[in-house]
Parts: sequence; C-alpha cells; structure tokens
Amino acid sequence: MKLTIIGSGHVGLVTGLCFARKGYQVLCVDNDKEKISILKKGIVPFYEPGLDKMLKDSMRKKCISFSTSVKEGVKHAEVLFIAVGTPLGDDGSADLSYIENVCRGIARSLKDYRVIVEKSTVPVRTGERMKRLIKKYSGGADFDIVSNPEFLQEGKALKTTLYPDRIIIGVESKKAERVMRRLYARFKAPIIVTDLASAELIKHASNSFLALKISYINAVARVCELSGADVTQVAYGIGLDKRIGREFLKAGLGYGGYCLPKDVAAFAHISERLGNKFDLLHEVQKINLEQRKMFVAKAEKALGLLKGKKIALWGLSFKPDTDDTRESPAVAIAARLIKLGAKVQAYDPKVKPSKIPSLRNRIKLCSSPYEAVKETHCLLIATDWAEFKEADFKRIKKEMLRPIIIDGRNMLEPKNMKNLGFVYHGMGKS
Ligand code: UDX
Repeated sequence: MKLTIIGSGHVGLVTGLCFARKGYQVLCVDNDKEKISILKKGIVPFYEPGLDKMLKDSMRKKCISFSTSVKEGVKHAEVLFIAVGTPLGDDGSADLSYIENVCRGIARSLKDYRVIVEKSTVPVRTGERMKRLIKKYSGGADFDIVSNPEFLQEGKALKTTLYPDRIIIGVESKKAERVMRRLYARFKAPIIVTDLASAELIKHASNSFLALKISYINAVARVCELSGADVTQVAYGIGLDKRIGREFLKAGLGYGGYCLPKDVAAFAHISERLGNKFDLLHEVQKINLEQRKMFVAKAEKALGLLKGKKIALWGLSFKPDTDDTRESPAVAIAARLIKLGAKVQAYDPKVKPSKIPSLRNRIKLCSSPYEAVKETHCLLIATDWAEFKEADFKRIKKEMLRPIIIDGRNMLEPKNMKNLGFVYHGMGKS
C-alpha cells in the first residue's frame, strides 16, 4: 500500500517514517524546497531522538521518498495525509490557510478516488470546510475526508506514534473506514471510529485537558508554597487515584511547545464562535503564563534587583529531548531577565543559535553547563534535561559567585542541594 504525507515537519515526517517502518511506500511532500533537499540527503532538519537513524534506514530500504509537488503526491497514493501547520491566528483562531492551499492543490490534481486525511490539528468542522473547497476546485472527482488526529509527543515521537494509546478515525463513509482500518491494521492499538466532527474535537479536547491538568497542579503548587506542603508529594498522592492518573501532574514553569498553547487558544475560540464561552480554558492560559512571572519573581526575591546581575539559565527548549523552542517558557524567561537588566548565560544541550532568533546577541550561549554558571549570582533551571541531574554540583558551586539555585522543574533533590551548601528554591515547595 502506498501513502502520501503532505507537510514534512515534526508530525508529517514522523508519521511518514513510522508508516515506512510498517512497510508502506511513503512519499513525503513539502513546499519548502530547502527542507526537501536536506531530507533527500538523509538529514533530519530538527532534533528528535532516533529519527536520523530511521530516516537513513528507510532511505536504504527505498520505502520513503521526497518531493515538492502536491500533484506528484496525489498521483502516488490513494491515501493522502495533510500534516501542514495550523498556527495561531491573531484573534486566537487556528490559521487554516496552509490546509486550504493544500486542499486547492489536491483538488486541481484529483482524478480517481482518494481518501484525504486531516492529520494536522484543526478546529471542529474543518473537514466540512475542506470538503466544500475540494469540491469547488476539482472536476467532480470522488473523494472522502477523514479526520485522524495525531497524539505524538516531541522527544518521544517514535514511541508515541508506533505505539499510540489509541487511533481515532473520523469518517463519513464505510469505504473510507475500510481503507483506514486496513492502513492501521499493522499497529497494535485500539481503533475508535467516530463521525468527522467528533474526531476533530477529540484532539482539541485532549490537548486542552492535558493543559488543564498542568495548570491545575501549578495552581495547587501555589497553595503548597503558602501552606508548607510539597507539591511533588501532593501530586503523587493525587495521581495514584486511577480516576486522575499520575501523568501531566508535574508542577513547574507550565506548558509550552507548538501544540498545547495554540490548541487551548483555538479550542476556546471555536467554542466561543459556536456560542459557548469557555472561561475555564482562559483560566488555564492565565495560570500558565503566571508561572513564568512567579519564577522570575523568585529570582528577584533571592537576589534583590536583577539589574546588573549575572544569571545562568539551564535549558532553552520547551521540554527535554527536543531542540524545539516554540512557545518555550525558557525563552520567555530569558527575555524577561534581559528586560530587567540581568546578564544571561544560557546552556542547552541541543538548541542552536538559529533556534532562538529573538535572543540572538542578547544572551551568551554557552557550550557546557559549567561555562554557563561561571561567576553568576544565581542558577535558573528552565528545562528538565536529564544531563542537568548528572552535573557535578561541587564544581558548579565553586564556579558561581553566589550558590543560589531556582529549579523551575523540581528536578533536583532539595535536601542534596542544601547539603552541598546551595540555597535552593523549587516550585510549590515551602
Ligand atoms: C503535546 C501532546 O502531549 C501531544 O499528544 C500532541 O500530539 C502534541 O502536543 P508536546 O507538545 O510534544 O505534545 O509536549 P508535551 O509532552 O505534551 O508537553 C507540553 C508541555 O507541558 C511541555 O512544555 C512540558 O514541559 C509541560 N509539562 C508536561 C508540564 O509542565 N508538566 C507535566 O506534567 C507535563
């Protein structure tokens, strides 16, 4: 069976490679010529564990190829996945212009029956909109629209795509359902078949619920700080209740990344457009952004004025095991520190200067965690990279002017840090 994936970013490329691994003949399409030429050389344009090797293996086995032509994509396969970006529009809505461009491109090349799959995260009823658009621009060719949202997590993209918790398929015809069931028969995961709108909504509702869980525990963390409780212990105690679950209850700097922030905003927006004000989601967003301010306020409390202070910042990506800095709390915190007059020395294991254009020439990007702490008044931990846990803290203490650590991800053991002579502050700990 052959497949075409249109859009070769985090979602499209990972989806394409995972289908290739399952034995399908995959063509990945993208209108970014430079990206396609890099991929054709066997290079992944971003960091994701295991992806480089998977690309090289798939190319050697000749089960993946690349193109900039949607026309070629339509010709290649019966199933066409659309995995292009749906960025946040100015008014909080999802910007569907990339999806619409692809739909027009597909429509103009459509001859025989095709299953056109929304893989990108879209607001409910986008499928209807796509159908109207494709009908308008095609010469009456037969097609079905399917919603098949992705749930991959960056940093664990291969595992979460090859072994998903569930596969959601929103369909309008038995024919499309059969095609999709055949396609996913090689994956061991429950398949849930729904109508189109429900599948679309499952994605926005899932991501918003994850964001809600994070904001909830961050709100609880504030009460912990005021009452002398420890949020790590509280989260453990809550999470063992199976109805709640332990995942996504890590208090800290809140959620970032390409998906959660935009999906919460887009879900609130579409809900309000449909006539239902979703204030809960606005509160989730508010709590999330406040966490960053509270973190910087901890530094101010520990150091007094930040103006002229040298601060080490560990982590720039929005979470570990990725070089993705989109909507990263760490980047926002660096910008805030600079605004307050501090000098920032940052270290991240994977983030390159090209990934932080807004901070370029405004911070010193160091090549090791030790270089970053040299002669600093304080160390801020913004991303919980495993390597930070393994650092030699005796050496760190010697390098710093003042031994103060503010751990935005609660990744270090407070007792150990105190025994080493650090003044340690976590999140949600008195
Ligand atoms: C998310 C969804 O998890 C995934 O299903 C969807 O397909 C895309 O969006 P991702 O953006 O890769 O995936 O990141 P995720 O692992 O969900 O983490 C999002 C943010 O929440 C990160 O900044 C992370 O640090 C933060 N987070 C996560 C917490 O602050 N606490 C937690 O307990 C979990």
